[in-house]
Amino acid sequence: MTAVLFIHGFPFDHFLWRHQRAALSRWRCFAPDLPGAGTSRGFDSPDAYSVASYATYLVGILDQSKIREAVICGLSMGGYIAFELLRRFPQRVRAAILCNTKAAADTPEAKRGRDALAAKAQQEGARAVAAELVPKLIARATRERQPEVVKEVTEMIARQPVPGIAGALRALRERPDATPLLATIRVPVLVVAGDDDQIAPAAGMQEMARAIPGARFALVPDAGHVAPLEQPITVSAALADFLANL
Ligand code: MLT
Repeated sequence: MTAVLFIHGFPFDHFLWRHQRAALSRWRCFAPDLPGAGTSRGFDSPDAYSVASYATYLVGILDQSKIREAVICGLSMGGYIAFELLRRFPQRVRAAILCNTKAAADTPEAKRGRDALAAKAQQEGARAVAAELVPKLIARATRERQPEVVKEVTEMIARQPVPGIAGALRALRERPDATPLLATIRVPVLVVAGDDDQIAPAAGMQEMARAIPGARFALVPDAGHVAPLEQPITVSAALADFLANL
């Protein structure tokens, strides 16, 4: 049975994938909390957080479950970690699904934003992080028509441990540019974009898909940056179609 390893974004946990895990029960799905997120123990030191250390942690999960290769499905930061898996452990990747993500590294301005958000998390807590991020994460259509999704995204962020938030921000700030990797990817790839994603805009994601040999592109209407929670039926259907045709 094909294994699918779901990798959540920042500052989320496995809850992000709850609809897809239920909808894709034909496949062997794993949706772990990354170190420092949800109920997962954090890395011992703040400096230990990086996309490389997250990727190594996930390979450890595949090893424990005796899975030689998996389809990796990462959202945003999860996509950055998927790039790292493709870079460092290509033999463990059967195929890749890149949701609401981008290849470029942080600009100097974005890095300053990471530091400011880490300071806010430390001074004011995770709920303040949620208050800052949620308006950027959610599509206008979701805000207007699905207040329960706005609430669940807010609560998911508000329950994240502050050291894990700060660590993830470090990993995000220091991540390498994945643009040169794109043309070298040799596994099937599905790119999934939200048409109202302010953080990983759909146009950039389509360009990214064009740079990956043979990649497929799916645009999810009325979705922002957390498309799997905002439009679960459409996202699950796109994933199921891709997985069924591998
Ligand atoms: C995420 O959802 O993982 C973050 O938006 C990633 C980022 O800020 O670059």
